[in-house]
Amino acid sequence: MRYVPWRLAVFFAALQPVVLWGYQAWILALGGDPGKVLVDRLGLTALSLLLITLAMTPLQRLTGWGGWLAVRRQLGLWCFAYASLHIAGYAIFLLGLDLQQLLVDFAKRPYIFVGALAFLGLFSLALTSNRFSVRRLGRRWKRLHRLIYPVLGLVLLHMLWGVRADLGEWLLYAVLGAGLLALRLPGLSGRWHFGASADAEKKMQ
Ligand code: HEM
Repeated sequence: MRYVPWRLAVFFAALQPVVLWGYQAWILALGGDPGKVLVDRLGLTALSLLLITLAMTPLQRLTGWGGWLAVRRQLGLWCFAYASLHIAGYAIFLLGLDLQQLLVDFAKRPYIFVGALAFLGLFSLALTSNRFSVRRLGRRWKRLHRLIYPVLGLVLLHMLWGVRADLGEWLLYAVLGAGLLALRLPGLSGRWHFGASADAEKKMQ
């Protein structure tokens, strides 16, 4: 109950982009190729949400505030939701729901295959992001959820391979991702936290 207003604020902040773009698409304000614009924006938002989700534990350790961990699962699920919409947009607007074209894309564009692998990883994380799975899987749950790092690597590869043009933008995401990964490396992660972080983390899980 303690973090309800904060959780709600995060919920509406994460919902807002998709509502705005839906409206822009409705009033034909997304330019000449709205389908591609939507697919790109949804993909970039999914990647941003993945990085934001990964930033929650370091932020909690740095500040000692439990609110970061209180929204971590929600943010992970938003990442999954945006990735799902990204793929639905690709299937509808870029493929025209042509299944044969999907097979051609898989064969011709390896970055699509890499994206599909990343999505499979995200799917397994989303499926087990509930109290029941945490209890049921025990220690294996933590190990499974470390999958988030290979997933991030696959998404970055998918982006680099698919959209070779804007290397600067890709580098920004890659550097942020590498920084977040470095903070979780054994040896580094324990050194810089303050206050009752371990306790708070236990309570939020
Ligand atoms: C079956 C899985 C996937 C398919 C078929 C797919 C499809 C695509 C396509 C076609 C593009 C390029 C669009 C263009 O031509 O500009 C793209 C770009 C991108 N995708 Fe995916 N994707 C998949 C999974 C994912 C996942 C899981 C994520 C993130 C969590 C993601 C994030 C991105 C990003 C960040 C871009 C670059 C967008 C940009 O730079 O504008 N994709 N994807």
